[in-house]
Amino acid sequence: MQREQWNSRVGFILAAVGSAIGLGNIWRFPYMAYENGGGAFFIPYLFAMISAGIPFMIMEFSLGHRLRGAAPKVFAKLGQNYGLRLEWLGWFQVFIAAIIAIYYVAIIGWAISFLGFSFTQSWGADTNAFFFEEYLQLGDNTPSKLGQFQLHIAIPMAIAWSITSLVIFTGIRGGIERASKIMMPLLFIMVLTLIGRIIFLPGALEGLNYLFEPDFSKIFDAKIWSAAYGQIFFTLSVGFAIMLAYSSYLPEKSDITNNAFMTVLINCGFSIMAGIMIFGVLGYMAQEQGKALTEVVSSGVGLAFVTIPAAINLLPAPYIFGPLFFLALVVAGLSSHISIIEAVTSAVMDKLTLARKPAASLVCGSGFLISMTFATNGGLLLLDLVDYFINNVALLFSCFIELIILAWLFKIADIRDYANRLSDFTVGRWFDLCLRFLSPAMLAIILVKNLINTVT
Ligand code: PHE
Ligand code: NA
Repeated sequence: MQREQWNSRVGFILAAVGSAIGLGNIWRFPYMAYENGGGAFFIPYLFAMISAGIPFMIMEFSLGHRLRGAAPKVFAKLGQNYGLRLEWLGWFQVFIAAIIAIYYVAIIGWAISFLGFSFTQSWGADTNAFFFEEYLQLGDNTPSKLGQFQLHIAIPMAIAWSITSLVIFTGIRGGIERASKIMMPLLFIMVLTLIGRIIFLPGALEGLNYLFEPDFSKIFDAKIWSAAYGQIFFTLSVGFAIMLAYSSYLPEKSDITNNAFMTVLINCGFSIMAGIMIFGVLGYMAQEQGKALTEVVSSGVGLAFVTIPAAINLLPAPYIFGPLFFLALVVAGLSSHISIIEAVTSAVMDKLTLARKPAASLVCGSGFLISMTFATNGGLLLLDLVDYFINNVALLFSCFIELIILAWLFKIADIRDYANRLSDFTVGRWFDLCLRFLSPAMLAIILVKNLINTVT
């Protein structure tokens, strides 16, 4: 069977960007930056982007392109030449990707519901109570009710799964590439429109100041370095099977290095746009309510689903900006979800020599069923737990092992040569140094620190 291929270079880049840009950029990045020293966060963030993000992306694109398979096949083939069995590493990454897919879809489901509410519910009511407490039934977390099924959360999750499976069923060109070509430009237009409105509101600039004003006293704090590295791997979707699968569909003649730079820079640029959007509107809300910004900012799930609705509620015409914001969240989330499911599906296709449709049915069907645990009253607690474990342990561990194997067991310079042969842009020896020494050392330190924190 002939392996499918991307139709155009732009199509591939948009798909890779679609995977990278996701919930991680819109609700995670702004808060991470805020919490970790504001402008000072950009120093470790850029450092992690250059020393780990870009080399990792080049490495994964090269491997997928050269070995033409999803993660398990790529690592199995790599090991073969050296008499090593490495297929498990690929499956381990696919497994982590599958777990992410299962909780990620719950957040997309909320965003779909909120998109619906933002048309139908009257803005102006107590958004905090409505959007979050009533919807997720936070008041009802008594142990006896934890398992209770919530249909109003299950239905939007089912909608998200249907869209994802439809795209995966349709394949690389007709499905993923076509969807990305619509979704990514749409996403940029929506976010730019929101920024265009928000930036002129009173207080918006104070909000931005808060985000960008560097607090250099924090630069020596190990915590912000750890946060920066974790954020880079999550946001770029590297280290867990995704980019390997996507690059395995690249045509023979492809400028890998260039594609990797574009993907990373567009993703990180988008994060900064998202930061401007979120902090602009928070600054406005602080001003309207006569509070300090620190009093209105909340973290994680709460930021996108509690604080932002409250802030949008204060805008003129919330019935326009509300749907825009939640649609942006849905689009960003779905394109990432699609990439995770493709990584799992292509691994199943390789292994069981199944065609796309049966493999996709298997993956989406079981994924859908398992994800229903998040449509219970205990879902939010579980989500917090899984998210913490994935981001602080599993993801870093997976990247660390991948690096050790690729950079120490094999000659990383070979991968660089391979990429250089295909590109008119030459990657220098910094690539080897980053992947052999700098990144593994950083990852090891952060991982040990996080494990100690988890235990204590
Ligand atoms: N990169 C995506 C984001 O920032 C999340 C993601 C992680 C997507 C892993 C695919 C795989 O939201
Ligand atoms: Na991202």
